[in-house]
Amino acid sequence: SRSGGSLQLVKIDVLTIFPGFFDSPLSTSIVARASEAGHVTIDLHDLRSYTGDRHRTVDDAPFGGGGGMVLKPEPVAAARRALDLQRGHCIYLTADGAPLDQDRCKRLSLKPHLVLLCGHYKGIDERVRQFAVDEEISIGDYVLTGGEPAALVLIDAVVRLIPGVLGNFSSAQEDSFHEDALLDCPWYTRPAEFEGLPVPEVLMNGNHEQVRNWRRVQSLRRTYERRPELLARVELDDDERRMVDRWKQSETTGGTTSAFERDEL
Ligand code: ADE
Repeated sequence: SRSGGSLQLVKIDVLTIFPGFFDSPLSTSIVARASEAGHVTIDLHDLRSYTGDRHRTVDDAPFGGGGGMVLKPEPVAAARRALDLQRGHCIYLTADGAPLDQDRCKRLSLKPHLVLLCGHYKGIDERVRQFAVDEEISIGDYVLTGGEPAALVLIDAVVRLIPGVLGNFSSAQEDSFHEDALLDCPWYTRPAEFEGLPVPEVLMNGNHEQVRNWRRVQSLRRTYERRPELLARVELDDDERRMVDRWKQSETTGGTTSAFERDEL
């Protein structure tokens, strides 16, 4: 089992009319390594293979008129039957779905079997959403040409959470508090000076406690500046609360605040 730390096998089936869209992304990067290592099995299924007519029709004009095409329900039903996908957790990628965030990714990474259904054109016949779909997900408030890029985003974000995929240093389920509550701090690597820009001194002096504090303050500051609504979800200690209050105050009094407030803690 997952909690027991043994190898978890996650199966992901993708139903799409453009299976080729996934070839390169799924054969490179960490997702490819996760497949090779057996952490996840990702299978692509062409909905066109589950049509019954000579023209292999996957879409049709909408009842009631209007432009665009709607994916037909029968190929989805046939694919689910033929591939025995009915017990998998079926996700339809759609702009009107629930927003994908780290909590949702974490929850999905615990499912042993995901079925990702990619819509196209005007979408898919509503009855598919009724009989086959368990969850509807959007990756953001913009309209894609189809669900395929969204499915890739979801696969990437979920697969890296499977224990073992990122290596043992980061069981993302464990260090997720830091990971999904705040925006990340700045990171630096060699050289120590680049085009006149030095790396912050605190990172060079070998004091791990100071480094930890500095990173925490940077994360808080960045979150405060860019995504203040996320701060409401974070537990701040008294010092941190006072620091954030000072940031707010100096904003209302028109003052400027350095992005490097590490010395405050
Ligand atoms: N299909 C079209 N747009 C989408 C979006 N933003 N998220 C998920 N699936 C989509």
